[in-house]
Amino acid sequence: MNSLRCFLLLMIMTSFYNCERKATSSMKDKSPEISSEKIEALLTQMTLKEKLSLIHASSSFTSGGIPRLNIPEISMSDGPHGVRYEHGRGWSRLENADDQATYLPTGITLASTWNKSLGLQYGRVLGSEAKERNKNIILGPGINIIRSPLNGRNFEYLSEDPYLTAQMAIGYVNGVQEHGVAACAKHFVANNQETNRSNVDALVSNRALHEIYLPAFKTVVQDAHVWSIMGSYNKVNGQFATHHEYLVNSILKNDWGFDGVLISDWASVKDTKEALLYGTDIEMGTELVKSFNNPDYDGFYLANPAEKMIESGEVEESVVDDKVRRILKLMMRSTVLTDYGQGERNTEEHQKTALQVAQEGIILLKNEQILPIISAEKKTIAVIGHNAIRKFASRGGSSQVNALYEISALEGIQKIAGDKYEIVFSEGYEPYFDENDFRKENVQTAAQTKVNNVKVAASKKSNQKLIQDAVAIAKKADYVIFVGGWIHGFDGYAWGEGTFDSEARDKVNLKLTFGQEELLQELTTVNRNVISVIYGGSQVEMKNWLPNVKAYIHAWYPGMEGGTALAQILFGDVNPSGKLPVTFANSHMDYPSHSIGEFPGGDEVKYTEDIFVGYRYFASKNISVPFAFGHGLSYTSFAFSNMVTSTVDNDNEIRVTCEITNTGDMAGYEVAQLYMSQNKPSVVRPKIELKEFSKVWLEPKETKKIEFVLHKDAFKYFDANTNTWTLEKDMYTLLLGNSSVNTPLQKSIKI
Ligand code: BGC
Repeated sequence: MNSLRCFLLLMIMTSFYNCERKATSSMKDKSPEISSEKIEALLTQMTLKEKLSLIHASSSFTSGGIPRLNIPEISMSDGPHGVRYEHGRGWSRLENADDQATYLPTGITLASTWNKSLGLQYGRVLGSEAKERNKNIILGPGINIIRSPLNGRNFEYLSEDPYLTAQMAIGYVNGVQEHGVAACAKHFVANNQETNRSNVDALVSNRALHEIYLPAFKTVVQDAHVWSIMGSYNKVNGQFATHHEYLVNSILKNDWGFDGVLISDWASVKDTKEALLYGTDIEMGTELVKSFNNPDYDGFYLANPAEKMIESGEVEESVVDDKVRRILKLMMRSTVLTDYGQGERNTEEHQKTALQVAQEGIILLKNEQILPIISAEKKTIAVIGHNAIRKFASRGGSSQVNALYEISALEGIQKIAGDKYEIVFSEGYEPYFDENDFRKENVQTAAQTKVNNVKVAASKKSNQKLIQDAVAIAKKADYVIFVGGWIHGFDGYAWGEGTFDSEARDKVNLKLTFGQEELLQELTTVNRNVISVIYGGSQVEMKNWLPNVKAYIHAWYPGMEGGTALAQILFGDVNPSGKLPVTFANSHMDYPSHSIGEFPGGDEVKYTEDIFVGYRYFASKNISVPFAFGHGLSYTSFAFSNMVTSTVDNDNEIRVTCEITNTGDMAGYEVAQLYMSQNKPSVVRPKIELKEFSKVWLEPKETKKIEFVLHKDAFKYFDANTNTWTLEKDMYTLLLGNSSVNTPLQKSIKI
């Protein structure tokens, strides 16, 4: 080795050595220098075996390092709404680990805030807590589009709309990466169901990919510079997404210029040659499927089999070099090799963020002058329903969190009500599980959703004794707060089964489970003041109970401070401001993914509804739904006025301004939503598409001016014939308001 090379190597080793985490409290060195010289010098020192050790797992949640060159392992953790509990190097949960963490409201709750700055705060909590636990990558955000309300993982995802998803994800990614922890946006791409997720082939048009399923990924790559992305389990149009020549090589890495690391989902690599050639940079999880706690890491597709393929000359070593360069770059940009100071865990500030996201993410959907509950006399409130006492943090699949604490709905209500109200509780219904019912009946019927009218008997059973007890207290109460909805699986079934919110399972339908509908019927018969609070990653069928309740709040899974936020809304300490990030139709069969396309399909799933996902479909077909995309009530009222449009920057941008006035008596947030509609498109286009939004705080009688600037690109559609984004000369209407069906301000512009 010549002396210059020796010197260079010494410098590199010293600087890597100095990168051992120092105990400083700042977030300094935020933009570490990425030196391609250092990367190249290191690469030259590596044997093929060493290179390969970097590109596959070395334990359940680490990928390999090279001790000889002082290159540490990369340590990863789920995500997406809290740092997951500790696994050892195997797969079982580590006993007595110090892993209690902040449990944030889940992704769909974050999206319901429509508050971009909360995305950033949320990401900062995760980044800081991940760093404190020595994790270099947090496996989130989950940014798959919500195509059907039955997807068991919708609670982790953000929205049916690509723009809302993208905008909320930017802050999340920036917040995580500010701490030197890599975000890992997942699951790339078209992973829109859990049924048969490891093999299903999503048949989706190029236009739908570009207009619906890819944009949020493109945004986190180009606007948030995400350092890693997770490839999904499924195939897309015939090839596995984790090693997809067109999607990973051509689009993600070439067209978008992604310079980070594509990590597989756990066991989503299926072929050595494809993974080598088509862009998988790190293979995780493969052998865990075969042997839970003693996997053979040399057996990974990107370990010994890759070595053989390269040694035989079938694949060039240069493809591995590209992966290694990306991995070293991620190491240098992140806490793996750069000092970002120390993270913090379970701080009051983190809990405050959890509270704020819940306050702004819980949605008031119906209110017939009953909320907020304010009374000078002492009234009795009956809180009824199992979900009022249930804790959700530790369930649902890979997103499970060992929460430091979790305030249930009942605890929140008791705390906020103090002694001003008498609070009585009754469980009303109980979750139960019969493996046989689910295995034999329900799981199979999930495959027939096009004509899924099979009764899900197992989840409909009620407990008459619990109903009677609940009715007895409801009769005497001034108000009934029913707290029900979905859960994450059953006791003892952490990963969830059948019809519940969980990884690896989709719901069968949206019917209320465990006899809750019967219970609600009884409650609304004996008490006229019933307020329904539903938890869960989707809605439930509403037609049989919604007309009989005075108010309906959708609480999602609102995190460790969810009970506090809910109670603050119920009693008027917080003015609700959440807006639906998805459409709430009554039945899953109303959704185009079921009525036009397929869900969950068989070996293949046809996305025949194409670009008409969510409100794009309902608005275009003029189908009214119980609660439209963007809807959410407040305790005050707002008026939109004075919409003005103008062009700026040589006609390349359209400037839209308007005024919003709080016309009521209570301060609160309103979300201004800007939609676009092309007047005479030459191809079929959705009637409206969300283009911008902004959340504003207004004191009573206050007026604020808001401004949006849209680039002309926002008016384009993806032309399937030319494979390009195309702008048509036409008249376009801009629609402004506070939901997809309430846009009182409209202006036409020529483009
Ligand atoms: C999930 C991923 C998760 C990974 C690691 C997989 O089963 O699909 O979202 O990050 O496990 O836990």
